[in-house]
Amino acid sequence: MITLKSEREIHLMHEAGKLLAETHREIAKMIKPGVTTWEIEEFVEKFLEEHGATPEQKGYQGYKYATCASVNDVICHGFPQKKPLNEGDIVTIDMVVRLNGGLADSAWTYSVGEVSEEAQRLMDVTKNALYKGIEAAQVGNRLGDIGYAIQSYAEGEKFSVVRDFTGHGIGKTMHEDPTVLHYGKPGKGARLKEGMVITIEPMLNAGTWHMKVDKDGWTARTTDGKLSAQYEHTIVITKEGPMILTEQ
Ligand code: MF3
Ligand code: CO
Repeated sequence: MITLKSEREIHLMHEAGKLLAETHREIAKMIKPGVTTWEIEEFVEKFLEEHGATPEQKGYQGYKYATCASVNDVICHGFPQKKPLNEGDIVTIDMVVRLNGGLADSAWTYSVGEVSEEAQRLMDVTKNALYKGIEAAQVGNRLGDIGYAIQSYAEGEKFSVVRDFTGHGIGKTMHEDPTVLHYGKPGKGARLKEGMVITIEPMLNAGTWHMKVDKDGWTARTTDGKLSAQYEHTIVITKEGPMILTEQ
């Protein structure tokens, strides 16, 4: 069941989202060759605690960390690690923040030092794909319009769209209805209504969209070892258009 959020709920989610955006801005400053995703994990734990917030992913279905840290061919759900990042890596940091009962979810891919042209293009196209999906999230449109906007653009740029992970409703819990596919057909799926809060979080791959999960049960990678990037925002659908809750 898709629930519509009250103004108060949206306000609380926006407050969580602003803190999440600030956390990402701090992470952006930390990312450089030699830094470990474990250091980022520790920073996030401390930063959220200092701001009266908690990391919602920690303990979620047995996941042990505040952040997911997905390097290069890892699509999502990578564990923070003590291995230093190298010049040329790309790393996606994903987290869900809980603040005063409000939840917000946002992921961002960062470049470590100078990256290849291909990596940069994958990052640019994935970020653009997110914003194209957001632009399609208008009252009266359907979920398929979001998926179509993302898929048609991404595939036009010769990248593939991951099928195994999706966006989602978010509210009282991290994952609610509806499931938000990043591919699809215009005019199909549930109609978008004012007060729906969803995430849009396309993962694009340089090669095939197929993935495999490591023995750890979480880390999802591309089967061909090629790069994957992801950008995610939590948004609310309003009469005036989509509003991003995880930006500022
Ligand atoms: N933040 C992720 C999402 O976008 C959820 C990660 S699953 C977890 O939906 F177990 F790591 F929390
Ligand atoms: Co999400």
